[in-house]
Amino acid sequence: MKEAGTKITVLTAYDATMARLLDRAGIDVLLVGDSVGMVVLGYDNTIPVTLDMMIHHTKAVTRGATRALIVADMPFLTYQISADEAIRSAGRLMQEGGAAAVKLEGGRAMADRIQAMTEVGIPVFGHLGMTPQSVNQYGGYKVQGKSAERAQTLVSDAKALEEAGAVAIVLEAMPASLAKTITEQLTIPTIGIGAGPHCDGQVLVLYDLLGLFDEFVPKFVKPYAHLRADALQALRRYKEEVEQGKFPSESESYH
Ligand code: KIV
Repeated sequence: MKEAGTKITVLTAYDATMARLLDRAGIDVLLVGDSVGMVVLGYDNTIPVTLDMMIHHTKAVTRGATRALIVADMPFLTYQISADEAIRSAGRLMQEGGAAAVKLEGGRAMADRIQAMTEVGIPVFGHLGMTPQSVNQYGGYKVQGKSAERAQTLVSDAKALEEAGAVAIVLEAMPASLAKTITEQLTIPTIGIGAGPHCDGQVLVLYDLLGLFDEFVPKFVKPYAHLRADALQALRRYKEEVEQGKFPSESESYH
């Protein structure tokens, strides 16, 4: 798709019903993101997410989708310690969860993990820029790569991940010009989130796109729907109609 100049559409998915919808809409890649920890499980960040949680949600997504490529996030501390652990963790996401590829966060320091996983047949997506598992190191969700030095490090990290065998790289929260440079210098696709229009594809957290999650909405999010408001209205109407004895009516009852 990169070679053909066709933009790649990616969205996060955490359950079978949504995965079925995204599949039907023709979304190319479903990312079972560890953002599940925040938008579904109610944690403040992605650090508490475990491999078992990711496998549980990946299984649900693979049951719902039949066409899209399914990529599962490797949660915190399931790949950082050693290449062996990374292979074992990714293996579980593929064998038990049914993922076709995995994603991990980090730059050059993760290159040996990516190489080892690639050598045993595991397709790996990289993730650079604002990498949420390092939120405590960054002191919050902040744009990365604004200084010339940090920008240069990110370009060199991207090249190191490609050389190690990564099949694509997510670029999160960085200046559009930096994402453009990285995209032009790589042969593998870049997937942007808060990284401007020049990436080879785009990803958003599904609940942000649908306007369902409003605890923390980054500036780059475009809500394509307002399902939270719609759902709230429906729930209030249901409560009112039950309380007033309007639901169920005769036609909504068995006879
Ligand atoms: O977990 C996630 O949803 C992600 C995306 C933000 C890329 O990693």
